[in-house]
Amino acid sequence: MAITITPRHPALGAAIGGVDMRRPVDAETVRRIHDAWMKHLVLVFPDQPVSDAEHVAFTRYFGEPEVFHQTSLSLRSDRVKEIFLVSNVDERNRLLPPSEPGQKQLSSSRQWHTDSSYRPMPSIGSLLHGIEISRTGGITQFINMYRVYDDLPEALRHEVEGRKARHDFSMLSRLVGSPPPTERERAAMPPVWHPMVRRHPVTGRKSLFISSIYNDAVEGLDDGAARRLIEELSAFAAQPQYMYRHVWAPHDVLMWDNRCTVHAVTPHDPAERRVMHRTTIVGREPVLAA
Ligand SMILES: [Fe+2]
Repeated sequence: MAITITPRHPALGAAIGGVDMRRPVDAETVRRIHDAWMKHLVLVFPDQPVSDAEHVAFTRYFGEPEVFHQTSLSLRSDRVKEIFLVSNVDERNRLLPPSEPGQKQLSSSRQWHTDSSYRPMPSIGSLLHGIEISRTGGITQFINMYRVYDDLPEALRHEVEGRKARHDFSMLSRLVGSPPPTERERAAMPPVWHPMVRRHPVTGRKSLFISSIYNDAVEGLDDGAARRLIEELSAFAAQPQYMYRHVWAPHDVLMWDNRCTVHAVTPHDPAERRVMHRTTIVGREPVLAA
């Protein structure tokens, strides 16, 4: 299978042509896709009307799909357990209002983050399938955190070098007022400390590793100073020269690397349906300190 690679932005993002996710993909093509992924960080596969089963099968070429630990908010599909629902429509086809608890929690994705960073071995990457896309917003924005790290002003670099930040899943509920995780969910996902500068296990490159929605503490700083530092780093990162903004077309599948990018979605009209299914690739190793 011959694939084409078309960059979408100088910093990150490339469209991949010549792949049909509904069919088995040979090992050589998987290797080429993986090489392109490591180079471009975010891959766009246009026109892939995959079923959930095909989406999960394609994900398995790159690792084990995660089964989301939280079941109390109906964000995990009842039909295919590896599918996480990034949707304002439930599996019975009902439009959900922004006040619905799962929607409240999902609203945190408007702030810069990387998926499943609260795990002891954070996710490698995610694949998001746009089934019904937004026309009023819902643009997914990605940042190349290698470049952000490379360009950090000296004072900020000094703040993060050799330091750890805590990632806590239950911070979401404090941030957006969604229901706190149950006792059991909390016990399954206790807070973890990760280096703020990490080394990518494949590329060997250093990147800034932070999350506006999960970082609730930074080593050696009080709560206010920790919050200010994460906000300052996020503001520095969110500059156009580091950012690819993906305007969705129906049945785009996006595949991003959670180890060297952060992402955030823009708001959209809540009366408009947005149906997106995500798989998340389980991490295989702790975050490497740089
Ligand atoms: Fe996300």
